[in-house]
Amino acid sequence: MRLSFDCAKPRLDSSNDINHLIDMALEFGPLKRREIRQAAELATRAFDDYEYFTNWFPDKEERNRVQISVIWHEYKTTFNRVHQLAAKMDGKIVATAQLNAPEYKKPSDLSYVLHGWLNVYKAGDRKRIDDWLAMDTEAGKPCHDYQKTGPGIWYASSLTVDPSVQGIGLGTQFLAYWEQFVREKGGKQIVFFTNSRKNLAFYLKRGYEVFDEREIEYNGHIMGSWSLKKEL
Ligand SMILES: CC(C)(COP(=O)(O)OP(=O)(O)OC[C@H]1O[C@@H](n2cnc3c(N)ncnc32)[C@H](O)[C@@H]1OP(=O)(O)O)[C@@H](O)C(=O)NCCC(=O)NCCS
Repeated sequence: MRLSFDCAKPRLDSSNDINHLIDMALEFGPLKRREIRQAAELATRAFDDYEYFTNWFPDKEERNRVQISVIWHEYKTTFNRVHQLAAKMDGKIVATAQLNAPEYKKPSDLSYVLHGWLNVYKAGDRKRIDDWLAMDTEAGKPCHDYQKTGPGIWYASSLTVDPSVQGIGLGTQFLAYWEQFVREKGGKQIVFFTNSRKNLAFYLKRGYEVFDEREIEYNGHIMGSWSLKKEL
């Protein structure tokens, strides 16, 4: 059974005025297929200055072309296999994230091609795109390995809040929502990784703990990669 938009509002400290205000206008639920492009555009805006992309694509125009193409094709190809969640404020998508159940299987290369994946290579330099894809696999490996260590371990990715509404408690509410979502599906733990110290502090403060830490070097830039987990 899927959750509908009006059935799952995570409750936070109601004495916090800002949380109370945004809670009134916020709805959480699954993203609809027709909203995939809007979610990909939101993620592209949110990740514009993220080292995960800037180290590989320093040129902003190329970066934004590659980002929207990679994210949109990824969302399209995996849509039927993942739980793509969204938060809406007055009907507009303001946050999104993907959750993969423990039994998730990555689509085949053919499926990616059939969803138009080769167009990604029209968006930027082929070598940088291949290097970025290799890095993306390496960065996710600790979490995917960890998922094999026991039952009920869910993987989360691509948490993004629209830059116009960051810093007012939405990301915090989204974490509470995805935890509730996974708990209701019988999940025991959530894992994911981040590549920003600022985000790391954000997740640590919300009960996540680091189980793997590494550095990924590219063209003289060193990026931290922290894998996190939380028992639900
Ligand atoms: C990281 C992110 C999801 C947090 O969501 P948010 O709605 O801004 O977070 P909240 O308002 O609930 O909480 C703000 C907290 O996050 C921290 N934070 C991290 N990145 C932030 C950002 N870009 N803007 C504002 N706050 C940010 C703040 O320091 C603050 O910490 P505090 O709790 O100690 O005060 C969001 O800022 C975002 O989408 N950033 C860009 C994309 C990204 O990095 N995604 C995460 C990938 S792992």
